[in-house]
Amino acid sequence: MRLLALENLSKVYHKNTRSETHVLENCSFELNKGDILVISGESGSGKSTFLNITGLLDKVYDGEYTIRGQAVKKLNNNQLAILRNEMFGIVFQDYVLVEHASAYENIIIPLYYSKKYKRKERRHRIREIAQTLKIEDILDKSVSQLSGGQRQRVAIARALINDPDVLLLDEPTSALNPDLALDILKFILSFGQKHHKTIVLVTHDTQTLPNVFNKHYQLIQGKMTLS
Ligand SMILES: Nc1ncnc2c1ncn2[C@@H]1O[C@H](COP(=O)(O)OP(=O)(O)OP(=O)(O)O)[C@@H](O)[C@H]1O
Ligand SMILES: [Mg+2]
Repeated sequence: MRLLALENLSKVYHKNTRSETHVLENCSFELNKGDILVISGESGSGKSTFLNITGLLDKVYDGEYTIRGQAVKKLNNNQLAILRNEMFGIVFQDYVLVEHASAYENIIIPLYYSKKYKRKERRHRIREIAQTLKIEDILDKSVSQLSGGQRQRVAIARALINDPDVLLLDEPTSALNPDLALDILKFILSFGQKHHKTIVLVTHDTQTLPNVFNKHYQLIQGKMTLS
């Protein structure tokens, strides 16, 4: 089943009237339910830009974006926010956590805007995910006191907590040591497969990836090519 499609996507960043950066140029991309795919490309090739657009965080682009057959451009900000929260779990490259709040408070944010889980289930769910990610002991700590690897796992927990259909992962294990990184990546992938999730993993390191990806896109000079 087709979940989403981007057609002729182009993105230009305007610094000022004289300087602009063309990042994506006429990219086309589609995502079907259950896809587990990887996007690689050099630093600066536009991977994060692409994920921001796909995850409904950036509305400024040319091209057609449809989700479940519906044109994204026709949705207002409120509809976009609801759709984003229900459909996408996003792990940002730089985590984007609330610094002064605890790990627990960060992880639970998507549940405030969702009716998926009752109060009791929430507590259980958060404990279970935290245990698997080995962060159960730091849940009460302020994010400002956490290490990079701990922050990254808090970001992963927040992306999983609301049981989204699509996981958008931007270098999700880059701050972890290689063994833990592989463990956590395997956990995310097996969790995804078990629950029929759709996963888009952005990485520049395709050497150590587990062998479960069914598509590999490469972003080269603004173009998305299937390799
Ligand atoms: N907000 C912005 N304003 C202007 N230029 C930007 C902005 N964000 C990104 N860029 C530029 O767009 C290009 C693509 O950036 P992007 O972050 O998408 O690359 P990336 O593939 O994710 O790189 P990395 O692997 O280093 O994370 C880069 O040249 C970057 O400098
Ligand atoms: Mg990036």
